[in-house]
Amino acid sequence: MNKATFALTAIAAVTFAQNVSAFQKGDWVIRAGFASVVPDESSSNIVVGSDLGVNVGVESNTQLALNLAYFITDKVNVEVLAATPFKHDVNFGVSDPLGTGDQLGEVTHLPPTVTVNYFFADSASKFQPYVGAGLNYTLFFDEDFTSANQSAGLSDLSLDNSFGIAAQIGADYMFSDEWFLNGSIRWIDIDTEASFQLGGAAGSVDSIEIDPWVYSITIGYRF
Ligand code: NI
Repeated sequence: MNKATFALTAIAAVTFAQNVSAFQKGDWVIRAGFASVVPDESSSNIVVGSDLGVNVGVESNTQLALNLAYFITDKVNVEVLAATPFKHDVNFGVSDPLGTGDQLGEVTHLPPTVTVNYFFADSASKFQPYVGAGLNYTLFFDEDFTSANQSAGLSDLSLDNSFGIAAQIGADYMFSDEWFLNGSIRWIDIDTEASFQLGGAAGSVDSIEIDPWVYSITIGYRF
């Protein structure tokens, strides 16, 4: 290495070092950790022929979360949220009309979400907060009544898939050029409708708004 090459390399190294914490156009980011889906739900009443006067509730669940993002500019990325399937207990709202206990059943879902995020901090900052908005598709599967409810005549539970908007705030804290810690809070509009059979009669819950807050903590890697 001659002196001129050495000088250029040194200048390049210093220039690069000054930018260590900033995301840049073309960066890929992968983050892995945990996400909790905490429903802020409301539902209409269970109807089988007539209104049973009882609605349903959906409990929280935590799973492994994975997300991948690509920076389309220095300040904007497009992020896809994936996770292992969330499994939620579904309970009777206030009382249990069939005498089978408080839990009605459980449902499993995957909520893939695509978000466009804007990073607004100074590019030299190790702390990189962002806001984002996007779209969610929630796929429900493995919907089951508890065995007590199956014995009471309930069967064929099915929830419609949901398509809706999502919004989030989050932040990355850079430990190094590659590694960082991320926290985010999202809100997802997840609305569904349940259908089932009770002793051969068709039943439904016409409106179930799950509308969860999703809290996640992940470790990120930039490449
Ligand atoms: Ni909603």
